[in-house]
Amino acid sequence: MKPESAVTAEAATSAGDVVLEARNLSVDFALPAGTLRAVDDVSLSVRDGDVYALVGESGCGKSTLAGALVNLVPKPGVIAGGDILLRGRSMRSMTAEELRRTRMAEVAVVFQAAMSSFNPVVTIGAQLEHVLEAHPEVWPDRREGRRYFDHLLEMVRLSPGQVLGRFESQLSGGMKQRVAIAFACVLKPSVLILDEPTTALDVINQRLVIDVLRDLRERLGVTIVFVTHDLSVVAELATTVGVMYAGRMVQVAPIDTIFYSERRHPYVRALLESIPNVLEPGRTATSIPGQVPRMDRLPPGCRFAPRCPLAEDACRKDDPELIDDHGNAVACHPVNREGTKA
Ligand SMILES: Nc1ncnc2c1ncn2[C@@H]1O[C@H](COP(=O)(O)OP(=O)(O)O)[C@@H](O)[C@H]1O
Ligand SMILES: [Mg+2]
Repeated sequence: MKPESAVTAEAATSAGDVVLEARNLSVDFALPAGTLRAVDDVSLSVRDGDVYALVGESGCGKSTLAGALVNLVPKPGVIAGGDILLRGRSMRSMTAEELRRTRMAEVAVVFQAAMSSFNPVVTIGAQLEHVLEAHPEVWPDRREGRRYFDHLLEMVRLSPGQVLGRFESQLSGGMKQRVAIAFACVLKPSVLILDEPTTALDVINQRLVIDVLRDLRERLGVTIVFVTHDLSVVAELATTVGVMYAGRMVQVAPIDTIFYSERRHPYVRALLESIPNVLEPGRTATSIPGQVPRMDRLPPGCRFAPRCPLAEDACRKDDPELIDDHGNAVACHPVNREGTKA
């Protein structure tokens, strides 16, 4: 276990209570060639009202972490260590029945490619009935549940007539994503986790989904955790950002700190410089040299060191810990040395 100060990054951005917390969470995939650790000792705290963005290049473990936050990891994956606390309750200690109730009613997930969250041979309306039937503890009167879903459809800019009698194959990609978001909210979860909610969509639907998420937060008070590799979506929506690199969290900070503070992980700096116009209008984008290491061939020390302009001997030997400085937690030897000098 690491000391408290090294793992917590409870950014002083929002005043809400901690609703969802990962503590030293690790996820392993048992593969024929050996065990691959996709999420390695990750801790995070999501507060009521946060819009928490998990970012990083493809293969960094974002989707695996998003699933693990509801104690759901696809086979052959297992949660190998740590815990997830939902308002202080351990999700790893819950029974299957407790998890079933918790997953849609307290913390709901919209997985990547929303398409797979529906049964293709049952209409959306019939699937809604199944959910309402299975959760009388939330909707004792199913008519009220249906009315609430109509209200949610309106929030995602759709009408019951466009959705209820249809099969998922009859919805466009943008509609499917919005129906999946409405569906995920029908049991009034306080936290909504979305994996790449805008990635597969055209620009118009991306815009709609961003507006919808903002509405859900403002009108329903839903706390949002979302995975993305698109920093322009982060800039529009997030209050807090967690940046992952090769299975580790390398920086956690409020959005303004990530975008404008000098105390930044070199990977985060490189990510920001790889997209045009986020930091300085008119500046051309530069790509990050090299690639994310394969999770079964990690370099010793800091996993970013082989691509890092600041890398020094210590970086190639010791994996840096996430050190919190006034709500801005960075895992980088050179950056943290500068921080302690100041
Ligand atoms: N079902 C799986 N079986 C085996 N390995 C997996 C599985 N899902 C993810 N991984 C591995 O875990 C790592 C992280 O993947 P993922 O969480 O999908 O990353 P991201 O969402 O950031 O692109 C990758 O190295 C990937 O190969
Ligand atoms: Mg992913």
